Amino acid sequence: MIKVEWRQEFEVGYERIDFEHRIFLGLICDASVALELGLDHQRILRHLEEIKHYALFHFISEENIMLDIDYPGLESQKNEHQILLAQLDDKIHQYRNEVMDLATIVEFLFEWFALHTTQADTRLGRYIRSSQSRAAFPFPPETLGLPLNESVNTG
Ligand SMILES: [Fe+2]
Ligand SMILES: [Fe+2]
Repeated sequence: MIKVEWRQEFEVGYERIDFEHRIFLGLICDASVALELGLDHQRILRHLEEIKHYALFHFISEENIMLDIDYPGLESQKNEHQILLAQLDDKIHQYRNEVMDLATIVEFLFEWFALHTTQADTRLGRYIRSSQSRAAFPFPPETLGLPLNESVNTG
């Protein structure tokens, strides 16, 4: 079984996105814990729905940042996000019908997260830091109650 945990390479260097990514990964991690706990099928289905809705929220959130800063990679990001949502929908459907197991879904989600975060989202983070434009809603670390000395310098 794949080890679902945060890695340094997942930091994209923009506080808001990194914060959302930690929650996203936390939900994937919970799904792997659910495997060990042997939770029942209905409860796991509800958790998978939670992941799907969080992914949708996070993608809209990221795309809004891209719109705010006229990010040239918006269409390609949107495309990758759409594909993930469709694939996840399909896998949840298969899980509901008991033709796919949870371990396969956890592995799929973690691999997608690792690849997309270290490539597409890292490019976005680099662009935000190098561009003069600022996302309309920066989601400053103090709002999140995060210690300021741990915040990433985005300027
Ligand atoms: Fe992301
Ligand atoms: Fe993304």
